[in-house]
Amino acid sequence: MFFRGRFLNTFSLFIIPLLCSMSGCSTLKGSKPILPIKKYEKMIVGRFDADYVGTTNCLAACHAHDRLRKYFDASTMGAQLKKESGLPLVDCESCHGPGSLAIKGLTRKLVEENAKKGIKTTCDYKTLIDLKALPAPAQSLICLKCHTANATFNLHNWNASIHAVNGVSCFDCHTVHKSPDLKVRPIDTGRLCFRCHQTTQVEFSLPSHHPLNEGRVFCTDCHDPHGGSSAMLLRKKSIKATCVQCHPEKRGPFVFEHADVAADCMNCHTPHGSVNNNLLVARQPFLCLQCHVGHRINSPAGGGKASAAIGSAFYSKCTDCHSGIHGTDTPSYSGQGRFTQ
Ligand code: HEC
Ligand code: HEC
Ligand code: HEC
Ligand code: HEC
Ligand code: HEC
Ligand code: HEC
Ligand code: HEC
Ligand code: HEC
Ligand code: HEC
Repeated sequence: MFFRGRFLNTFSLFIIPLLCSMSGCSTLKGSKPILPIKKYEKMIVGRFDADYVGTTNCLAACHAHDRLRKYFDASTMGAQLKKESGLPLVDCESCHGPGSLAIKGLTRKLVEENAKKGIKTTCDYKTLIDLKALPAPAQSLICLKCHTANATFNLHNWNASIHAVNGVSCFDCHTVHKSPDLKVRPIDTGRLCFRCHQTTQVEFSLPSHHPLNEGRVFCTDCHDPHGGSSAMLLRKKSIKATCVQCHPEKRGPFVFEHADVAADCMNCHTPHGSVNNNLLVARQPFLCLQCHVGHRINSPAGGGKASAAIGSAFYSKCTDCHSGIHGTDTPSYSGQGRFTQ
C-alpha cells in the first residue's frame, strides 16, 4: 500500500501536469497504461540503465532455462507472444524486468569455455528484479499491470480485497513456472488455502462437514480469493444466495416462512463443518431454545395443541415434528404455519 501510495503521489504531483502540458489531457482518457510499462518496471527494478533485449537474446547463451521456457511458451501467457492475438505481449522480461545487464558479455562461447574448466556460468541475475524480496503489493503490481486490463481475467476487485490488504500476493497462490498449465484446479484449492487457513482445515474434518476433502465441494464454489463486493470474499451477494445455488429447495419464498430467520442460514448452520449433525451451530433442542420456549404435547401420542400439561413428554428433537423448518407451503393442523408438515 505504501508503495502504491508513494507512486501515485509522485505521479499526480509531477507527471499528470507534465503530460497535460505536453499532449493535452485527452490522452489520459484512453485505456492505455498510464505510463509505458517499461517505465513501471524500471521503477520497480531501480535500474534505469538496463534495457529490454527480448526472450531470444535473454536465453541465447544458455540451456539452463530450457524446460522453464518450454513450459512458458506452451502456457496461455506464453501464447500471447503471437502478435496477432492483440493481447499484451508477455515474455520473460515482463515480470523479471529488463535483462541487458544480466546477459552483458555472456556468449555461448564463454559458457562453453567455462564448462570445459568446470565453471558453471550464470547470468548476472542480481540485476533483474528481486521478485521474492519485493513487498506483497509490489509483487502483485507486476501481475496487475496486465491483469487489470479488460482483455484479461477480471481482477478489478483485488486491491480492496482482504487478501491484498493483509499482505497476500499473487505469488502466494500462483506458481508461474510450475507447469504449462497456469490454471488453479478447483481440487487443488483446499491444500492451497489450508496453508494459511488452518482453522478452516480443522472445521472440514469435523464429523458433519461439506464434502470438500471428498472432492465434491471446493473453496472456490463459495469464495473468490481475488475479492468482490460481498463480505467474506463470497462469490454471491449474500450467504443465502451462496447456499441455495446447491440447495435450491431452501430458497423459497414459502407461504409460511420462518420469520426472517432463514434469510441468514448462519443463524442455525456453519458453512464448513460442525460437531453437530447437519452443520448445525448447536444441538437440538438448544438450537431452537435460543429463540423459543420449549413445549410439551398434551396427548401421549403427540399431535395435540402445544401446552405445558403435566404428564406429557418434552421432546428433544424439535424437527421430528417441525420438519418443514426452512419454511413450508402447507399449514399445520391448526391452519397456521408451525412447520409441522
Ligand atoms: C508472469 C510473470 C513471469 C514471467 C513471464 C516469467 N517469470 Fe520467471 N518467475 C516469476 C516469478 C513470480 C518467480 C519467483 C517464483 C518464486 O516465488 O519462487 C520466477 C522465478 C524464475 C526463476 C527462478 C526459478 C526458481 O526456481 O527459483 C527463473 C530462472 C525464471 N523465473 C526464469 C524465467 C524465464 C527464463 C522466463 C521466460 C521464459 C520467465 N521466468 C518468465 C514470474 C515470471
Ligand atoms: C505482460 C502482461 C502480463 C503480465 C505481467 C502477467 N500476465 Fe498473466 N496473463 C496475461 C495474458 C494476456 C493472459 C491470457 C489472457 C487471459 O487468459 O486472461 C494471462 C493469463 C494468465 C492466467 C490464466 C491462464 C489460463 O490458462 O487461463 C494466469 C493464472 C495468470 N495470467 C497469472 C499471472 C500472474 C500470477 C502474474 C504475475 C506473476 C501474471 N499473470 C502477469 C498477461 C500478463
Ligand atoms: C488466495 C489465493 C489466490 C491469490 C492471492 C490470487 N489468486 Fe488468482 N486464482 C486463485 C484460484 C483458486 C483461482 C481459480 C479460480 C476458480 O477456479 O474460479 C485463480 C484464478 C486466477 C486467474 C484465472 C485463471 C483460472 O485459473 O481460471 C487469473 C488470471 C489469476 N487468478 C490471477 C491472479 C493475480 C494476477 C493475482 C494477484 C493480483 C491473483 N490471481 C491472486 C487463487 C488466488
Ligand atoms: C459451502 C460454501 C463454502 C465453502 C465450500 C467454503 N466456505 Fe469459507 N465461508 C463460507 C461462508 C458462508 C462464510 C461466512 C460465514 C459467516 O459469515 O459466519 C465463510 C467464511 C470463511 C472464512 C472467514 C471466517 C472463518 O470461518 O474463519 C474463511 C477464512 C473461509 N471461509 C475460508 C474457506 C476456505 C479456505 C475454504 C476451502 C478449504 C472454504 N472457506 C470453503 C462458505 C464456504
Ligand atoms: C498466503 C496466505 C493465504 C492463503 C494462501 C489464502 N489466504 Fe485467505 N486470508 C489470508 C489472510 C492473511 C486473511 C486475513 C484475515 C485473517 O487473518 O484470517 C485471509 C482472509 C480470508 C477470508 C476471510 C475474509 C473476511 O472478510 O474475513 C476468506 C474467506 C479467505 N481468506 C479465503 C481464502 C481462500 C478460499 C483461499 C484459497 C483459494 C485462501 N484464502 C488462501 C491469507 C491467506
Ligand atoms: C457447491 C455446492 C454447495 C454449496 C454452495 C453449499 N452446499 Fe451444502 N452441501 C453440498 C453437498 C454436496 C452436500 C453433501 C450432500 C450429501 O452428502 O448428500 C451438502 C450438505 C449440506 C448439509 C448437510 C450436512 C450433513 O452433515 O449431512 C447442510 C446442512 C448444508 N449442506 C448446508 C449448506 C449451507 C448452509 C450452505 C451455505 C453456506 C451450503 N450448504 C452451500 C453442496 C453445497
Ligand atoms: C432456524 C434454523 C435454521 C435455519 C435458519 C436454516 N436451517 Fe437448515 N436445517 C436446520 C435444521 C434443524 C436442520 C436439520 C433438520 C433435521 O433434523 O431433519 C437443517 C438441515 C439442513 C440441510 C440438510 C437436510 C436437508 O433438509 O436437506 C440443508 C441442506 C440445510 N439445512 C440448508 C439450509 C439453508 C440453505 C439455509 C438458508 C437458506 C438454512 N438451512 C437455514 C435449521 C435451520
Ligand atoms: C434465531 C432465532 C430462531 C431460531 C434459532 C429458531 N427460531 Fe423458530 N422462529 C423464530 C422467529 C422470530 C419466529 C417468528 C415468530 C412469530 O411469528 O411469532 C419463529 C417461528 C417459529 C415457529 C412458528 C411459530 C408461530 O407462532 O407461528 C415454529 C414452530 C418454530 N419457529 C420452530 C423452531 C424450531 C423447531 C427451531 C429449531 C430447529 C427454531 N424455530 C429455531 C426465531 C427462531
Ligand atoms: C411431538 C411433536 C412436537 C415436537 C417434538 C415439538 N413440537 Fe412444537 N409444536 C407441535 C405442535 C403439534 C404444535 C402446534 C401446531 C399447531 O398449532 O398447528 C407446536 C407448536 C410449536 C410452536 C408455536 C407456538 C405455540 O406454542 O403454539 C413453537 C414455537 C414450537 N412448537 C416450538 C418447538 C420447539 C422449540 C421444539 C423443540 C424443543 C418443539 N416445538 C418440539 C409439535 C411438536
